[in-house]
Amino acid sequence: MTNGLIHRRDLLKAGSIGLIAGSATPVMAREPWMTGPGQPMSGSGESSRYVSLAREQVGAHAFGPGAGSSSSPLQHLNGTITPSRLHFERHHSGIPDIDPDKHRLTVHGAVRQPLRFSYADLLRYPQETHLYFLECSGNSYRNTLAEPQNQTAGELNGLVSGSEWTGIPLHYLLDEAGVTADAEWIVAEGADAAGLTRSVPLSRALDNVLVALYQNGEPLQPAQGFPVRLFVPGCEGNISVKWLQTIKVQAKPGYTRDETSKYTDLLQDGQAEMFTLQMEVKSVITSPSGRMRLPEHGVYDVSGIAWSGAGTIAKVEVSADGGKNWVTAALQSDARPLALTRFRIPWHWQGQSAVLLSRAFDDRGNIQPTREAALARYSSAVIYHYNGYQSWRVGKSGEVSNVYV
Ligand code: CO
Repeated sequence: MTNGLIHRRDLLKAGSIGLIAGSATPVMAREPWMTGPGQPMSGSGESSRYVSLAREQVGAHAFGPGAGSSSSPLQHLNGTITPSRLHFERHHSGIPDIDPDKHRLTVHGAVRQPLRFSYADLLRYPQETHLYFLECSGNSYRNTLAEPQNQTAGELNGLVSGSEWTGIPLHYLLDEAGVTADAEWIVAEGADAAGLTRSVPLSRALDNVLVALYQNGEPLQPAQGFPVRLFVPGCEGNISVKWLQTIKVQAKPGYTRDETSKYTDLLQDGQAEMFTLQMEVKSVITSPSGRMRLPEHGVYDVSGIAWSGAGTIAKVEVSADGGKNWVTAALQSDARPLALTRFRIPWHWQGQSAVLLSRAFDDRGNIQPTREAALARYSSAVIYHYNGYQSWRVGKSGEVSNVYV
């Protein structure tokens, strides 16, 4: 009835874990690495030479090589943290090489006291640490195309990453500057050559927004905004302005180039929505993934990530028959608000044809829509905020490919 999906407790009860090929083969040989000392300590670690990890879809604009994006290789990662060096990128004029001693952050506009901070000043402020996802508004846009692209989970959906972010709650700086009574928005500008500039409602800016200084325990990497970036949890990545140099408080939004020429969503009736900041409930199976091949019949751990810009993931269901029947997957026990949540469910593949897909539910009552329903919200020209299903067809010989259901 479930086309091979198994509740984890039933997998263990039945003792069928042995169906995972080779799982109980003892290692008896004395391998070369057991016969002498290995490499000594070093100043900085790196992956095993047997592990090859790199961002995917490393794209550049024909007229400006610094404008483009790269994706996290979701199908090669596990857990809920994306290594900083594999976090997706989206730059509009390349990565500036900023000397932190010369960088300044200015807070001005509708405030009683304009302020200017050096990097050293910022490091002295109280900071907070949170796990948050970051998703580009254009993530998964290839699944809005008429024909399914034969690509990996990362190529299709890897403009989302999860990190531990540490920084100063923005309201500390705004409180110090003293926003005036007419203030309703902040306008944040980066120090890149594009001067990327976005508007954030003050109500959100005073809530959980960080002036982020660290990612996954280390100072931001240049590609993630070193020395300082805005971080707006749950919202489209573009408003988490990197290389943050100016916050202007004002009564109205900036209507900047970066929020009118892009990141505005045309509806089917010809009207356009602006400031659609929150990212929707969504999930993606990352293993198996398109362009993989299941090597043999047996039990596989179907696994993926889920997230919601509205709250916490409450449930993820997985189907192995294209959405006719659904089984509840196990969630990572520490599902957190506005963070990636890992889900898993064992699946017994015996050569049957199958279409694997997932759908996520959050604690605010939002449910991930079908592809058809997700597309119906906007004009066909819109590539933003797609959160429909990601479906993987498993063929008779185990090949996995992107398919629309
Ligand atoms: Co938007």
